[in-house]
Amino acid sequence: MSIRATAPVFRATCARRVAQPLQPLRNPALRRRFATGAGPEVPPPSPPRKSNSPYALVAVGAAALGAAYLFFGTSGSAKDTAKELGSAARGAAASVEGKVGLRRGKDEYQKVYDRIADSLEVEGYDDGSLAPVLIRLAWHASGTYDKNDKTGGSNYATMRFKPEAEHGANNGLNVARDHMEKIKKEFPWISYGDLWTLGGVAAVQESGGPTIPWRPGRIDGFEHNVTPDGRLPDASKAEDHLRFIFNRMGWVEIRLPAFNDQEIVALSGAHAMGRCHPDRSGFEGPWTFSPVTFSNEYFNLLINEPWVWRKWKGPAQYEDKKTRSLMMLPTDMALVKDKSFRKYAEKYAKSEDEFFKDFSAAFSKLLELGVPESQWAGEPWAMGSQ
Ligand code: HEM
Repeated sequence: MSIRATAPVFRATCARRVAQPLQPLRNPALRRRFATGAGPEVPPPSPPRKSNSPYALVAVGAAALGAAYLFFGTSGSAKDTAKELGSAARGAAASVEGKVGLRRGKDEYQKVYDRIADSLEVEGYDDGSLAPVLIRLAWHASGTYDKNDKTGGSNYATMRFKPEAEHGANNGLNVARDHMEKIKKEFPWISYGDLWTLGGVAAVQESGGPTIPWRPGRIDGFEHNVTPDGRLPDASKAEDHLRFIFNRMGWVEIRLPAFNDQEIVALSGAHAMGRCHPDRSGFEGPWTFSPVTFSNEYFNLLINEPWVWRKWKGPAQYEDKKTRSLMMLPTDMALVKDKSFRKYAEKYAKSEDEFFKDFSAAFSKLLELGVPESQWAGEPWAMGSQ
């Protein structure tokens, strides 16, 4: 049954967003929002530094990469060592590339952004947009970061490889990866990590969300860089688990703190978008009545509507008492049950501006987890609709 068909009674009692029909993406109003620079202030990119022999420096990195393969054998630990060196060489080449100004400019990445934005609407798929599943891909590609051993994160795009692609938490993300593969064919020069994270940025912005500061610099890793299963949150758990998972992220090297309570709540607000699929996570249904619109509606509903356990054969989840057509995960409900989390959920329910500001900062930070500082060429950009 469609959401719109089940919603009318509930919609009348809910805040403005709920009453809206599913909104088309890239509509003029949203485009204007970006064109006028609404959203957080984003500093302009730093000009790339010049060097007399940039190509020679990149050649050094590339040569190291080749040498790593040629020098070491093709089996056992020698192969692993070669791959380690390969990753290091790619990282070194990326650092050099960024530092000497060889990286493509913002205009080139903007073309990729536009292509992604134009591809979001897909009639017949879920609620008509790939934006939610692209946001989930960007988050799952980044949220594996472990500050303790500095593995995981968006740098190597390791979800391309079988073990990680098949982790239970990533069920269904093949839809997003396959879609991005088509874009990659048109722009083969972009790394997967940059492509997937830019996809998340475009998906949020084109759905009416805030501007997300973003910059390129991620490199493609190897299969041996895949992360162990269990780094992403388990939706059946509660507040302690959420803190454990999100505190494991964070970045000691550049003094980014692990995600705090406020950031955990802000990030969870992405559940305004999309839905749960029984064949992916086992859970079922959307969180809001406008699952292709990025808004603070998730918090409005979480705070203001009564939620009860759903009686069904699937995993334990909540449903809204009035229409029984919306859902909340146990981890979503932890945001209202835990006192510290609740403070922020209430704040975001009251003010969409506050939510957008905090989501933008936290999501931008999430997307950079695992990328060594040396690989960035400058400050993040504000990509936008053309
Ligand atoms: C706080 C811990 C979180 C848990 C336990 C969690 C869990 C889940 C689950 C179980 C699904 C349903 C997957 C499916 O069946 O298709 C889902 C979907 C989704 N999640 Fe989360 N999530 C969390 C945090 C986040 C964060 C931080 C973001 C982004 C910033 C996010 C964005 C999304 C989106 C957009 C969807 C919808 C995907 C679609 O419609 O295909 N989630 N999440």
